[in-house]
Amino acid sequence: MLSYEQARKYYDRFGEKQDHQFYENSPIEKLIEFGDFDKANSIFELGIGTGRFAKNLLDNHLSDICKYVGIDISSTMVDLSKNRLEKYTDRVKIVQSDGIPQINEENESFDRFVSTYVFDLLNNDDITALLSEAYRILKDGGYLCVVSLGQGITITSRIVEKVWSLIFKVKSSLVGGCRPLALQNYIEKTKWKIIYKNVIVSFGVPSEIIVCKKL
Ligand SMILES: C[S@@+](CC[C@H](N)C(=O)[O-])C[C@H]1O[C@@H](n2cnc3c(N)ncnc32)[C@H](O)[C@@H]1O
Repeated sequence: MLSYEQARKYYDRFGEKQDHQFYENSPIEKLIEFGDFDKANSIFELGIGTGRFAKNLLDNHLSDICKYVGIDISSTMVDLSKNRLEKYTDRVKIVQSDGIPQINEENESFDRFVSTYVFDLLNNDDITALLSEAYRILKDGGYLCVVSLGQGITITSRIVEKVWSLIFKVKSSLVGGCRPLALQNYIEKTKWKIIYKNVIVSFGVPSEIIVCKKL
């Protein structure tokens, strides 16, 4: 796995290239379809990146009063997302994090916790800790909405998964520190009710989409 420092440096360098990750579009559209975003008044995003997903939500899916908080470990990403979301400064807050899996927000203060292609670069302990944090900061009935690299479900996507995992093992920085994951295994059934769960293959790359409701 990349350390926090390595992840920060990698994404500081990667910056705007993140917007060319073509395989992310269809899975993210599905997340939006099942996330019931028009009913949300407050969103928290982990790993906001260039702010592309946030801008799409703010432009097309959220109410005019919905507030949006995003964090990212990379200062480049924080700057890019702040610029991209400039017109929403009155209700958007973007903060650089140190990477540790603790979120500086109050209990039960958000309707949605979203994160796209971030859990797949975290270690198992951090995934578990951040899902607990998501549970803590979500209001009752709030939604956890996540997409990560997933496990293959077709011949091509299984091959992509295996090759990707192999490259990750040899040199994780070659794949941005990300590896295919079975994120559903981390979702505790006593805490969450699954609303939508699927693996979508786009350009051969499998992505797992999970939308679940806080119980
Ligand atoms: C693969 S990019 C995805 C960015 C964006 N969510 C997207 O879908 O385009 C991963 C993002 O997570 C951020 N990141 C990595 N580790 C993090 C951590 N521990 N806490 C917060 N952000 C992190 C990176 O800086 C980067 O912006």
